[in-house]
Amino acid sequence: MSFEPLAVVILAAGLGKRMKSNIPKVLHKAMGKTLVEHVIDTSSKLSPKITLIVASPINCSELSSALCNYKLGYSIQQKPLGTGDAVKSALLDLVGFQGKVLILAGDAPLISERSLRSAIELHDNSKATLTLISATITDPASYGRIIRDTVGVKEIKEAKDCSIDQLKIQEVNSGIYIVDSAFLAPALNKLSDKNAQSEYYLTDIVSIARSEGQNISCFTLNQQSEMLGVNTPYELHIVEKILKDNLIKSLLEQGVKILDPDSLLIENTVTIEPGCIIGPNVQLLGSTVISNGVTIEGTAWIKNSTIGENCILKLGVRIEDSKIGSDCTVGPFANLRAGTTLEQQVKIGNFVETKKSHFAADSKASHLSYIGDATVGAGANIGAGTITCNYDGYKKSETKIGAGAFIGSNTSLVAPVSIGAGATIGAGSTITKDIEADALALTRASLLTKAGWSKSKRK
Ligand code: UD1
Ligand code: CA
Repeated sequence: MSFEPLAVVILAAGLGKRMKSNIPKVLHKAMGKTLVEHVIDTSSKLSPKITLIVASPINCSELSSALCNYKLGYSIQQKPLGTGDAVKSALLDLVGFQGKVLILAGDAPLISERSLRSAIELHDNSKATLTLISATITDPASYGRIIRDTVGVKEIKEAKDCSIDQLKIQEVNSGIYIVDSAFLAPALNKLSDKNAQSEYYLTDIVSIARSEGQNISCFTLNQQSEMLGVNTPYELHIVEKILKDNLIKSLLEQGVKILDPDSLLIENTVTIEPGCIIGPNVQLLGSTVISNGVTIEGTAWIKNSTIGENCILKLGVRIEDSKIGSDCTVGPFANLRAGTTLEQQVKIGNFVETKKSHFAADSKASHLSYIGDATVGAGANIGAGTITCNYDGYKKSETKIGAGAFIGSNTSLVAPVSIGAGATIGAGSTITKDIEADALALTRASLLTKAGWSKSKRK
């Protein structure tokens, strides 16, 4: 690629009426990421000098707050007078810029970095003033048709302005262009709205270039799906399916075993390292990281959490905003709520709920427990049915369980309370005071037996 600077202009001021939604069209999400972010992320790999979003007065504040993590400029198109008018609204923000302008649509998220690079390369090598990206598709529907003659591309005609013969053309306009900045401004000033939709069509810059004798080149996509745009909820579904398939393909190729790809729900923000096994019916969301060698048996919901190397998540786990160290076992049927941290080799067994709690290495809560607002020392063993009574109806209090402590089954730890390292709590106890290290504590009533009592009752 040449060193001539690149500016990116992303069109996003359209009304998007066909989405039947109050959310601006380009802010609909596919695979957990808004449509326009897909376009921004892909185009940013080309290191543009500037990226401008063309927004409308209606959607601009929503767009800029949704995209606040990006370094972007916003140009406002006062009225939706067409794609040509939209680019014209960006000209003021391009004053002083000299180089190539890459124009993209915010509703077409599948375009790849590779195709964009190839198109820019073609633009440079053929010393073109204008390069468009086209694709040949079996059902050209409402896409603009590429009209060619013996010289090359002559014009783009919108479907609504085509003759019956022109409608048969299967080579269509992707809506993506690379244009030299020096040509763009004067060309946009020549646009007219004398057409079927009374709009200022950006596509008309092609015939303007041609009439000026400018060099026009056309890059045809190998993968026609890359140009798919989202105009309806169904098209969003189709685009999402393609994005998911691309991701699954790359995960499989990297050595992740996905037992039932159809039932995996995954967002583009998730990382899965090689050597993992993902069972059926799993949802992986947000900034989740699944490290090397993890097995997820199936039926899991995991959001914004890190799962350390070689962990086994048994059937039925829900994990949110949590961090799990290596070699842990969780589940079956465990609920790790926000703020749970497990160091390495921790075991959280079936029907255990945790919240805002830290488990040091080798600690265990194997069955039927609620552990909230607690710190659990290394190697501590929490027996079945143990409950941290962390809430008195007014405030939350903390429970501390020392390293190597043994909490007998069915214990209630009434917080705030601290169990010393190595202490033993007898089964069925209700602990309301701090217990010293290495002590035995139990609150059990003494056992009473009456020989023959049951037999005499039966009589
Ligand atoms: C456009 C092209 C068509 C191409 C198709 C590819 C024109 C005239 N037609 O048609 O040749 O095949 O894309 O998907 O360019 N927008 C604005 N302001 C406006 C109008 C649109 O910002 O006044 C934005 C929209 O938000 C959208 C993009 O431009 O992101 C494309 O607009 P849309 O109305 O969807 O154009 P198409 O009819 O799909
Ligand atoms: Ca469109």
